[in-house]
Amino acid sequence: MPRTPPATQVRVVTLTIDGQALSAREDETIIEVCRENKIPIPSLCWMDGLSIVGACRLCVVEMAGSPRLSAACSTRVAEGMQITTNSERLQRYRRTLVEMLFAERNHVCSVCVSNGHCELQWLAQTCGVDHVRMPYRNHAYDVDSSHEMFRVDHNRCVLCTRCVRVCDEIEGAHTWDVMGRGSDCKVITDLARPWGDSDTCTSCGKCVQVCPTGALVKQGTSVGEMVKDQQFLPILARRRHIR
Ligand code: FES
Repeated sequence: MPRTPPATQVRVVTLTIDGQALSAREDETIIEVCRENKIPIPSLCWMDGLSIVGACRLCVVEMAGSPRLSAACSTRVAEGMQITTNSERLQRYRRTLVEMLFAERNHVCSVCVSNGHCELQWLAQTCGVDHVRMPYRNHAYDVDSSHEMFRVDHNRCVLCTRCVRVCDEIEGAHTWDVMGRGSDCKVITDLARPWGDSDTCTSCGKCVQVCPTGALVKQGTSVGEMVKDQQFLPILARRRHIR
């Protein structure tokens, strides 16, 4: 009888998060362990089912013995780690990051189709952002409505690159990419052609569903009408690994 190869051994480690003793698999990240144990950590670029980019830094945590803050989404757990997820320093840091996102583009919630269903808006509420302490850039970005089903409003984009990753890693189309540098970066379709002229877009709408804000939305939606469904992603991602 053919012998089945031994399963790869994954060790279990013990650690504390906010004083709570926990165990986890050594291949898990801090954010995964926190989500499993219902410990809230804000996040924007991270999404269960997509690769990790560690871009937004909203998920930073403190680690005993390290002066630096670590991103919970890109740091694996280790034996004996002592993690703090919600100190005053972290709250200050996260609040400033959210304010900078608001100041960078034009997030006018009252006229946004995602009003009430927006992750940035929710983050502002949970981080206590009731005003922005830095000057707004007030730069006008394009809106591309050339696709018959969807629209991209770059004024609302937070450059989390979820759309780029879901299109590449789950749909396999790689229609989306990022062009430019710094605050003038923008997500683009097919080497910056209008979305409606894209030869690679399958119109699956996955990019729209994973977008945390009102940047990628369905055509025809009005203020507050755009509700996104992201349940499909972890299911599809896991099935891909099982194959
Ligand atoms: Fe960790 Fe964005 S969620 S850096």
